[in-house]
Amino acid sequence: MAKQMTEPHRQHQRDTERPPRHSPSETSLDVGSAVLEGRPRHGTRSGRKAIFELEGVDVAYSGKTAVRNITFDVAENEITALIGPSGCGKSTLLRCLNRMNDLVPGATVEGRIEYHGQDLYGASVDPVEVRKRIGMVFQKPNPFPKSIYDNIAFGPRVLGMKGDMDQLVEAALRRAALWDDVKDRLKDNAFGMSGGQQQRLCIARALATGPDVILMDEPCSALDPISTGKIEDLMMELRESYAIVIVTHNMQQAARVSDMTAFFTVELEDEGASRTGRVVEFDETEKIFTNPADPRTEAYVTGKVG
Ligand SMILES: Nc1ncnc2c1ncn2[C@@H]1O[C@H](COP(=O)(O)OP(=O)(O)OP(=O)(O)O)[C@@H](O)[C@H]1O
Ligand SMILES: [Mg+2]
Repeated sequence: MAKQMTEPHRQHQRDTERPPRHSPSETSLDVGSAVLEGRPRHGTRSGRKAIFELEGVDVAYSGKTAVRNITFDVAENEITALIGPSGCGKSTLLRCLNRMNDLVPGATVEGRIEYHGQDLYGASVDPVEVRKRIGMVFQKPNPFPKSIYDNIAFGPRVLGMKGDMDQLVEAALRRAALWDDVKDRLKDNAFGMSGGQQQRLCIARALATGPDVILMDEPCSALDPISTGKIEDLMMELRESYAIVIVTHNMQQAARVSDMTAFFTVELEDEGASRTGRVVEFDETEKIFTNPADPRTEAYVTGKVG
């Protein structure tokens, strides 16, 4: 954290090409949800506002530490990539960001995770509200066995969101670049869609509850290159309105789409008795891929290990 604060604020090259941003609260998808209010402690390296600030985060399963001492920020309107070898705790950390680990028996989270400057694990925070504001998309597209329309409407209905449901469904599908594909078959079962379309439906479903963050755990690993390209294009569009955190094993993908990258590794502890994930390096993606500070990062991103 100290290193990050003392470095000069640098703008990512692509920033100059970006259109003006707007906040999700200005979109038609927001139907008056109560945003967790607070103020982040400091700006991020790019100068954008921090959405998440992680400090000294440890996660354990039944007392066995899976990741230790994780410290980095996630900024608004940026894509943050989590990369590293299998088992280093990328999914574990991602699940902490919307309190999904609350649902895993024996999982404990220590350290501090702030969301908009508020303790995400504070007693007054409602985990349901958290999951509404912080959407998640998984490796395998997992639509509900329902119509395309009902997949999108499900979350807003459960949450009792008010507003014109047809309009909300259309807005979410448009945002996920899926409207033109499905507008004539909204009542068809979602299982009739291609894998890539199903994944975009899952993204639309996450957008329907009016989040400001989308967490993606290897969202393209089950998809062909064309569908992968569509999801990547979509991520670049969504970045203008949301913060995105993506776990990926695809180095080209991390380099193509992300602004910031956290490289995780697994270290043997207790004389080899336990394996614990740590962040080796967190920096601008360009730096991680062209001039990393740590030789372990370089070995991984150049494919020498991992
Ligand atoms: N539900 C769970 N219960 C117990 N241990 C778990 C659970 N989920 C993950 N772990 C352990 O936590 C460690 C990190 O796992 P995690 O799935 O977060 O890694 P990952 O980096 O996402 O790996 P991959 O790239 O293979 O998806 C591993 O040692 C794993 O066995
Ligand atoms: Mg994983």
